[in-house]
Amino acid sequence: MAKATTVMGGIIGVGLVIPIVGSLLPKGGGGTGNWAPLTDDEVKQLQAATAKPVKLTFSLKSKDSYLPMQTSDEYVWGIKVDQAKFEAARPDLFTKDGKSDLPYDVVNMNFVIFSPICPHLGCRFAWDESGNKFACPCHGSQFNFDGEHLAGPAPRGLDPLPLREQSGTAEIMWIRYKSSVEDRIVISYQS
Ligand code: FES
Repeated sequence: MAKATTVMGGIIGVGLVIPIVGSLLPKGGGGTGNWAPLTDDEVKQLQAATAKPVKLTFSLKSKDSYLPMQTSDEYVWGIKVDQAKFEAARPDLFTKDGKSDLPYDVVNMNFVIFSPICPHLGCRFAWDESGNKFACPCHGSQFNFDGEHLAGPAPRGLDPLPLREQSGTAEIMWIRYKSSVEDRIVISYQS
């Protein structure tokens, strides 16, 4: 699997560096997850994207006390944003002075990565091309391009995930947040 070395290296070369998230301790949770590399082609698509989200695939490694390391195919949604506009659209993710309200930067290099899990009851939403929004097939929750909650029973907007550059490769961290509550509470760093 090709990694995002070239693309991210180019971005870093112009002076934008993604900070490394050292410790993630969101509300109600502890520990950290594994960083997973994104593919070169998909990161290039994200760089070139304008008003459409890009589906980014990766291998999620997970392990518990009883089983050996498991690997599963996963995906997230990436969008390219103007940071100021995104902050205005998603006040639930930022403090009043514009800092991330999560223990990691929500916007990195003008990219935002969304978990594909609906905050209502955990189904997977998808991008509705004709409606120009994210839509969940289970109970009809809808979210705009910025992940803002538009309609349906979801109690919050879409959940951003950490993104970083490591040795020239774009990596994301999988976090599963509790469904059906307004706050973002970590329940798992595995699938
Ligand atoms: S799980 Fe998405 S709307 Fe219910």
